[in-house]
Amino acid sequence: MGSGKSTRGRMAAERLERPFLDLDAAIEARAGISIAELFEARGEAEFRRIEEHAVRVALAGTEPSVIALGGGAVTSADTRAILSKAFVVLCDVDVDTAWARARGSGRPLARDEDAFRRLFEERRELYAEVADEVAGDIEGVLLAAAGVHYERGAIDRLGELVPGAGAVALVADANVMKLYGARAQQALGARLHTTHELPAGEEAKHVDVVSELWSALRLDRDGTVVALGGGCTTDVAGFAAATYLRGVPWAAVPTTLVGQVDAAIGGKTGIDIPEGKNLVGAFHWPARVVLDETLLETLPEREQRQGRAELVKTRLLAGQALDVRGAAAYKAALCLRDPYDRGPRRWLNLGHTFAHALEAAAGYEGVTHGRAVALGLLAALRLSGRDVGQVEEILHPTPVKVDRGRAWAAMQRDKKAVGGELRLVLLGDDGPRWDVPVPAEDVRRELDRLIAA
Ligand SMILES: NC(=O)c1ccc[n+]([C@@H]2O[C@H](COP(=O)([O-])OP(=O)(O)OC[C@H]3O[C@@H](n4cnc5c(N)ncnc54)[C@H](O)[C@@H]3O)[C@@H](O)[C@H]2O)c1
Ligand SMILES: [Zn+2]
Repeated sequence: MGSGKSTRGRMAAERLERPFLDLDAAIEARAGISIAELFEARGEAEFRRIEEHAVRVALAGTEPSVIALGGGAVTSADTRAILSKAFVVLCDVDVDTAWARARGSGRPLARDEDAFRRLFEERRELYAEVADEVAGDIEGVLLAAAGVHYERGAIDRLGELVPGAGAVALVADANVMKLYGARAQQALGARLHTTHELPAGEEAKHVDVVSELWSALRLDRDGTVVALGGGCTTDVAGFAAATYLRGVPWAAVPTTLVGQVDAAIGGKTGIDIPEGKNLVGAFHWPARVVLDETLLETLPEREQRQGRAELVKTRLLAGQALDVRGAAAYKAALCLRDPYDRGPRRWLNLGHTFAHALEAAAGYEGVTHGRAVALGLLAALRLSGRDVGQVEEILHPTPVKVDRGRAWAAMQRDKKAVGGELRLVLLGDDGPRWDVPVPAEDVRRELDRLIAA
């Protein structure tokens, strides 16, 4: 009571594009009287019975939805048992805040402050028992729903944070192993089964590396792959987890900014083949993503810049300033809403069609993804009729020296021009839109502006 769960539930449902059910409101609508009146007329025991039934009906639905439970629902052992089928987020609140909100609400159990405080204490344990995650704000709810745990210093609690109790195979690249391998191993304790070192960087995203990893893994189905590193590590280890024994669970501990706001979130895993980047892979959602910003303290400036480009992209999509946690929550919500990339998840490609064309024209050498994305954002904003100030101030993009014809050819290969138009992600007046048709000549003009004479 007074935790803000109805408000946050409604917001979460909106962000996830799922139906929202406020259980108290549903019970009131059904009974035709208020909860207070129901309590008065039928007594608490009878009210709990009605509530139990309502939870059962709500959770029997097949459509994924967001449900806000009544504050006392968890006092029923039956309800607690039913809740094991759901993913439960506890909206954390301190007793003073809860009381300040609940007093004067007319709720039967919020009339006397001492009784309210006692109840809060009594129920605390039951909440902890049913909760899969704890969240203090809407971003926390969205992150929790996606299995993302945000905590500074979390690497030292990996043993508890990696779901399950089975063995763990720890995977990291050579650099990250040197920096954080020992700490991760120590935190995993007795669960640590094997440790696997990958080459650093894009080199790891090769089928030979995955093949070696497959052969070295010794996990059974209860085991978990833990990927500690940047996007290359999480892509490869996640792909190995998706395929080993036809799929074992995995957890991601991203150590780069790109990893924390982008690569470790959303369940896309994969490797490169000579024909192109990320052409082989699988959707395999991590059982847990552990976001520990302290790991970024050792990240070189060059790598920070890569992540900043994705962070600015996410801010433009969200239409507001976001920190690492906020950007992660934004992507998490989009990916939950559209796990297989058929709809709004494609917004995340803002600026990326241009970026890929520039990278391809450079033969994937000499132009980093971050620089290419920064330039791509300029083009996408200009075609959207938007100001490019934020991108210029934060990312300072400078034109790249590549062959114009080659870049244009790559762009057309990526986005087949249909009837003289290309389809791009642009920013509209009421938010981002995907598949917006843009005349080829406009696209080519903007692409040319990104290339140094
Ligand atoms: N799956 C997805 O949804 C998704 C999304 C975006 C990007 N990606 C992929 O991610 C890859 C890029 O990821 P990245 O930019 O994280 O690169 P990366 O994994 O290659 O890491 C960059 C470099 O930083 C080093 N490093 C990592 N963490 C460090 C730390 N804390 N301190 C010091 N050094 C550290 C690494 O050893 C490496 O040399 C690309 O292959 C891209 O395709 C995937
Ligand atoms: Zn990108």
